[in-house]
Parts: sequence; C-alpha cells; structure tokens
Amino acid sequence: LVWTMSGAVLVMPATAALANGWNMPVGVTDLSRDIHGLHMAIFWICVVIGIVVFGALFYSLFRYRRSRGAQPARFHEHTTVEVIWTVVPLLILVAMAVPATATLKSMYDASAADMEVMITGQQWRWRYEYRDEEVAFLSSLATPREQIAGQQAKGEHYLLEVDRPLVLPVDRKVRLLLTSDDVIHSWWVPELGVKQDAIPGFVNENWVRINEPGIYRGQCAELCGRDHGFMPVVVEAVEPERFDAWLAERQAEAAEAAMGLDREWAMEELMARGEQVYGTICASCHQPDGSGNPPVFPALAGNQALLGDRERHIETVIDGIAGSAMPGFANTLDPAEIAAVITYERNAWGNEAGDSVQPSA
Ligand code: CUA
Repeated sequence: LVWTMSGAVLVMPATAALANGWNMPVGVTDLSRDIHGLHMAIFWICVVIGIVVFGALFYSLFRYRRSRGAQPARFHEHTTVEVIWTVVPLLILVAMAVPATATLKSMYDASAADMEVMITGQQWRWRYEYRDEEVAFLSSLATPREQIAGQQAKGEHYLLEVDRPLVLPVDRKVRLLLTSDDVIHSWWVPELGVKQDAIPGFVNENWVRINEPGIYRGQCAELCGRDHGFMPVVVEAVEPERFDAWLAERQAEAAEAAMGLDREWAMEELMARGEQVYGTICASCHQPDGSGNPPVFPALAGNQALLGDRERHIETVIDGIAGSAMPGFANTLDPAEIAAVITYERNAWGNEAGDSVQPSA
C-alpha cells in the first residue's frame, strides 16, 4: 500500500505536468529530439529512484513505528549493503552519462556546416548576418506595445511578432555564431533546442539543422535591461529553394543600397575636390561665386549654354577656346580634377540642366 501510494504521489503530478504541456518540446531538429529523449529518460529514472527511496522511507516509518514496539537493528558495517549502494548508483550515473555526453558532444560540433549566421544581441533587438552571403539585417519587435498591454490586461494569449524573422533553410546545417554589442543576451528557441548566451567581446557557437518548415518562436533568455521581455526571436524555416530565392532577393537589395551609398559618397568627394580646383584655378577669372568678369570672362552661374551641354563643357575645360582668354587645362589638371571641377560647376550653377546631379565623366 505504502509503495503504491509513493508511486502515485510521484508519478501522478509528473504525468499531469507532461499532459499539460509543461514539458520541454520535442522540437524540430534531430538534436532537439535527442535532447528531449535524454531529458525524458533521466526524468523517468529520477521518478523510479524517487519511488524506491520515498517508498522505503515511508514503509519504514509505517511498519516500524513505535506503537508496534519496534527496536532499531544494532549492527555495524555490512559489506553487501555498502557494495550495493555504491555500485547501483554508479551504474545509474554511467547509464545516464554515456548518452548525455554523446548528445553534449554533438551539440557543440558545428563543423562541416553549409552556412553561417552571426547573431548579435543589442538592447533590444537581434542583428542577423549571413556571413558568406553578405546579407545582414536587424530584427525588432513589431507588435505595438499598446496592443500587448491591452491583451495582457485582458489575460489573453499574445504573440510578439518581429519585423524581419531569421529565415533559414530546412535540411541544411547552419552554424550559429553569437555575440553582443552591449550586455549579455541569450538567444533561445525551444523547438530548435538552442539556448546560447550572446556575450559582448566573445563569440559563442551553436548550430541547427531544421527538419520541418515552419515558424519557430523564442525570446531573449537573459535579463538584459528594460525591454528584455520585448526581444523576441522568430525563425522562419523554409524549403532550400525558397531560401535561396529569398537570399538572392536580399542580396540584390543590399547591392542596390550599397551602390546608392557609393554614388552619394562619390558625389561628395567630387564636389569637395571640384570646389577646391575651381577656387585655385578657375576663380581667378570667373570669380569665386561664378559671376565672371564679362565680357572677357563670362559668368558661369546660370550659363545654360555651357553648363547645360555636358560635351561642350568638358571640351571647353580640356581644350580651352581658341582665340580667347580661356586656355585648355588638359596638361594642368589630371582627369579626376577635371571631372571634379565640371561636376562642381554643373551642380553649383547649372541647376536647370536635367542631369546636373550626375557626376560627370
Ligand atoms: Cu536581451 Cu534579455
């Protein structure tokens, strides 16, 4: 009776917890399944040990209680008992340690990965960088805070959405590198069996190979400041072909953005250089403000005949104007300086020319 009761006391809440979904998820990777299997095996070993230990305890309390006139046994040293209580736990520990060590070893074996994603925690969002593919973006909370507060107040279930999920292909081994820009965060996605600290100044490693397409949710699991609770992780696992298409799109976007930045930078450089060349060479005749000194030195400001005609403008600066005071600068200025000064003049005073914001060749 006592044994059955101890068994019931331990097994019933355990099975109830499992049935209520309080258990860790099985997950969608081979590794998460191994971890879950290991967790369940160790869990049931502990339950059995609990039944044996508490059963013996309660049995002794009940069977040998004082009202029954029980006398304690008086013996010292019992080799058989001592051998049993040393060898049995040792065997149990070894039985748990062998599969646990194997799983732990594969958890940290990120070698031979198909791709690599760097995950950087920031207060309070994640930055994902597909390292060899030169694609990177930030992933932040997208669900409005008022909406979350409203649902919380009503006790409703709510999801924290992000603006850009981490998109990963299924059936490919992805090496995850984790670090942080500020404080310690932790990237945790239960269904992927990954919970890894992101520590500033330090790179941690983990990996996933997802078996099933789907949306997998997690969150920052290390108290990292005010908005720790609003630092969700969303992973979207897709078929490899869809992933490749998605990645190509992101790469095209990134290339476009980089070209825009290059153009802007080149423009600034050209304008600064052009202003300097104009100030030292051209301004002596055409005035620093481009007003010229007519009739010998024509004004450049508003001079559409010259600045609106790119060909003519370039020829004039390079070859000069025969029979006038305008010399050619082909030998005085190098091609970059000529390009710069032409760009400067067109942008400073030739605004009506439709293409005046383009750098001149
Ligand atoms: Cu980041 Cu908690």
